[in-house]
Amino acid sequence: MKYLRHLTISFLVSVFSIIARADEGMWLPLFLQQLNEKQMKTMGMKISAKDIYNINGGSLKDAIVSFGGFCTGEVISNKGLVLTNHHCGFDAVQNHSTLDHNYIKDGFWAKNNSEELPNSGLFVTFIVRIEDASSQVLRGVTAQMTESERQSTIDKNIAELQKGVKKESYQESFVRSFFEGNQYFLFVTETYRDVRLVGAPPAAIGNFGKDTDNWMWPRHTGDFSMFRIYAGKDNKPADYSPDNVPYTPKRSLSISMSGMKEGDFTMVFGFPGRTNQYLHSAAVEQIMTVNDPAKIAIREKALGVIDGFMRKDEQIKIQYAAKYASIQNAYKKWQGEVLGLTSTNAVGKKKAYEAIFNQRVNANPALKDKYGSLPGDLESAYGELKPYGYARDYYLEITSKIELLTIAGWINSLKTAFDKDGETGYQKRLKQIKTALAGLYEEYSPVVDEKLFEVLMKMYTENQDEVYQSPFLRDRLKIAGNDYAALASGLYNSVDLDDKNATLAMLEKPSSEVLAYYKNNAAIKLYTDLVNTYNQSVTKNLNQIQARINKLNRTYMQAQMEVMKEKKFYPDANSTLRITYGNVKGYAPRDAVKYDFYTYLDGVMDKYKPGDYEFDVPEKLRSLYKSKDFGPYGTNGKMPVCFIAMNHTTGGNSGSPALDARGNLVGLNFDRVWEGTMSDINYDPSICRNIMVDIRYVLFIVDKFAGAGHLVKEMKLVYGPAGK
Ligand code: ARG
Ligand code: GLU
Repeated sequence: MKYLRHLTISFLVSVFSIIARADEGMWLPLFLQQLNEKQMKTMGMKISAKDIYNINGGSLKDAIVSFGGFCTGEVISNKGLVLTNHHCGFDAVQNHSTLDHNYIKDGFWAKNNSEELPNSGLFVTFIVRIEDASSQVLRGVTAQMTESERQSTIDKNIAELQKGVKKESYQESFVRSFFEGNQYFLFVTETYRDVRLVGAPPAAIGNFGKDTDNWMWPRHTGDFSMFRIYAGKDNKPADYSPDNVPYTPKRSLSISMSGMKEGDFTMVFGFPGRTNQYLHSAAVEQIMTVNDPAKIAIREKALGVIDGFMRKDEQIKIQYAAKYASIQNAYKKWQGEVLGLTSTNAVGKKKAYEAIFNQRVNANPALKDKYGSLPGDLESAYGELKPYGYARDYYLEITSKIELLTIAGWINSLKTAFDKDGETGYQKRLKQIKTALAGLYEEYSPVVDEKLFEVLMKMYTENQDEVYQSPFLRDRLKIAGNDYAALASGLYNSVDLDDKNATLAMLEKPSSEVLAYYKNNAAIKLYTDLVNTYNQSVTKNLNQIQARINKLNRTYMQAQMEVMKEKKFYPDANSTLRITYGNVKGYAPRDAVKYDFYTYLDGVMDKYKPGDYEFDVPEKLRSLYKSKDFGPYGTNGKMPVCFIAMNHTTGGNSGSPALDARGNLVGLNFDRVWEGTMSDINYDPSICRNIMVDIRYVLFIVDKFAGAGHLVKEMKLVYGPAGK
């Protein structure tokens, strides 16, 4: 009995330490004062929640932008200069690069405003204000409604609400769902559409260490680039025009020259993309054992094929660099995620949490009535989802890697458009796919693609049940004598969709000729059969189960908030503005291994491999290092490069500012550590760290390396230790 009681207490203690964690959370700025300010101050913050978010006066939030909708940026001068990551600005850098001006390789720095380069389609969005819109959006919604009735009521309410939003003519607004649809928030925004490239270091600095160092600590990457917001003469958003002028912001960040010590307070302000913090253990288990492994295995094969060609062929190496990096980024992250979920016993912790939840629910008849069946329902719904989720991952991962199928899909959409809207529909669609095809072919090699087809279609047929497989593909495989190489070459030889010139020339012909030409194309036939098979065997069931799961998760979220009262809830990331905070701190991932919290230029030189694809170091940087010519940016004869802290971040937080206790800019967020990539599902304060590049390294590269000191003069630098 005594032993039992002891067990129960230690069990509860460990579970409550799960519930009341200090550093976890991506918080909504409008509730900071209410939910977080006290704790932030205890942790070292010297400013108030109002200094961070205040809709009635200037606050730090006025310096933060969503960069192109996929990253974060921050305004760092009163002339609209914006700082973000190198990998966030990479597309712009790549688009302006030619063999003569290779800005990827050599970097780019505009000497004055007239040299800054426009980027069509790129925008930045400021958040004007955020409002809780839950009661209006959920008006008239009842528990008895079906999901589609519920959604149409919500859609109507949102449309109504949008009509009445108070905003200026140049502002926009949108409504997003939070806490699995239990709450809704309104965002009023201001989007600037003329954003010009100001500067970027060479990839050897901006992406130093590439895939080997990606998701890893210790890190030595100068992952930054700079842009400038341009506005109309009235300082309001405007389409690109040579007459536009640098934007005068409401607020720009001051830059601290003092660096960080272990234990110092930091916060990260930005637009985290997607997390899943409140999943049931059955869902977490499925991600670990079914979905992540399936996606990892497919990407591993695809990367192996691409890498093999990139090593042999310089042209393919250039063509496939960006594609390889993006396939590799998630591939590596999912591996870290599985390792981290395993090592932190995420499923066990979820189960312990669920045990308390169940115990409380079952002890209270009213709660039991409402929520008693939830755990069982969730478990059985996830059980049903499993085969379809796996088939979905197989289908999406494989078909998206074989670009012949992408091309076939686009060509096929011409027929769909013609059937629906005749010649007008055809021409409209043709215009879109011509641009898309031209872009695809730029970075396409038919040889690589054919090998990808051979290798991935083998996985498609061998690793999943026959009911999920395209009969057309199976027929062709039989004809090819079950030889995947023969299957691939048979297909690629029988069509010319993989030939850029043939395809683009064909598309210049009249629609009737084009449609007739592609009528019996084997790749298009295969494409449509793959899609149809997937729709029939997967989509229908998947959508229906997923809708049930969404509803269960909404109820489960509501139940957790009602039953686990001592827990502070923050909404899952959904690409809206959030703040996260934590102290600068090293970590100990394994027995006998302990990581420090700072890296220095010495570490760059340690990793230096002359001529290497990942670890080469530009001559100028080597000579600055040798002469210790760090200007005012070094400290004690050393040049700081990166540091880590306990901020809870995710994809989308790239480019987010790291701010000190006073709200001054000390770093630029760009990654997480290997052991902590599972923080999207199970944040663990012992090993989850975000990685930032030290702002002094950014300034050193701009000023001493690139000779663009005029940009530093635009900024406001502040000296003295944080908090003084
Ligand atoms: N892992 C970082 C982020 O998700 C950086 C990615 C860019 N760097 C790279 N080497 N691919 O997503
Ligand atoms: N590199 C990520 C991005 O592109 C941010 C790092 C993370 O996922 O934590 O947004």
